[in-house]
Amino acid sequence: MGIPNLTVLATGGTIAGKADSATRHDYRPGQIGIDEFLSLVEDLGIEANLKGEQIANIGSEDMSPEIWQRLHDAVSAAIVDPDCDGVIVTHGTDTVEETAFLLDLTLPTSKPVVLVGAMRPATAVGYDGLRNFANAMRVASDAEAAGRGVLVVMGDRVFAARDVRKTRTRGTDAFQGFPRGSVGLVTPSSLDWFGAPWRRSEAARFAFRADLPDVPILFVHAGMTPDYVERLVVDETRGVVVSGVGEGNMPEPVRKALAASGMPVVRASRVDEGLVDREPEDDENRFVAARALNPQKARILLQMLIAAGEVEPAAIQRAFDRP
Ligand code: SIN
Repeated sequence: MGIPNLTVLATGGTIAGKADSATRHDYRPGQIGIDEFLSLVEDLGIEANLKGEQIANIGSEDMSPEIWQRLHDAVSAAIVDPDCDGVIVTHGTDTVEETAFLLDLTLPTSKPVVLVGAMRPATAVGYDGLRNFANAMRVASDAEAAGRGVLVVMGDRVFAARDVRKTRTRGTDAFQGFPRGSVGLVTPSSLDWFGAPWRRSEAARFAFRADLPDVPILFVHAGMTPDYVERLVVDETRGVVVSGVGEGNMPEPVRKALAASGMPVVRASRVDEGLVDREPEDDENRFVAARALNPQKARILLQMLIAAGEVEPAAIQRAFDRP
């Protein structure tokens, strides 16, 4: 590859954040527009042609199906553009794992798609956004990144969308991968991949759709009673993800109420490195085990499956079992 042509899609977040001073904590995400951001990047002197587009400029707590739709359309257009070698999406770190996983399920793996954010706003002393972005440029320009599915670059590490999770609210090393850790180490001048790709070159698993069904997450805690289920499972509800204690567990009355609801129920774990396997009672309850997906990613996969007309627990389990 000569000089890489990269499409940059901006959605906001701390990487585009500003505060009134270099040391204040109370900054605002999503303040810098794509043109200003790209002019900061230009000063790094990295050889690449960057084409920017502003998709949104929000704190990622406000990420929505409508913005996902715009983002998906823009990434899809870039992927089929013969003049584009790779795509970088700038994103807030709070929900980047959800956007990355959604894109991973709904895009082919033919070109690198890399999401990147920052833990410190652009005006802060020690802003990590430009370093993370330079790293993302390195990954998005690498032919070996294609075929690996959607990737997230944070803190000199490359993560697969399926594994990545935000595990700290402070510091620049705020992300981890579970169960596989990071799939690569990156700096602006080096890139090392570890292991075979999680995904092989393949088509999208699901067609993207913004009208996803209502699937709430039930966060289990000590002392929970079944009336929580009654409040959560309303007419519009199409499925439930349980963010269970330990290995996806819940009090017996809650379990009974969910089993009686008759809708797809996925047991995930509220534990950070939670791996939830099937247990014998799942057959009788018609529950599904989330395996290594955390509740927020289990929710996206369950929404996709229900939207595609899949409500049978055995088929849903197969979808959760595959890598
Ligand atoms: C956000 O997710 O938009 C705010 C936090 C961040 O980007 O680190």
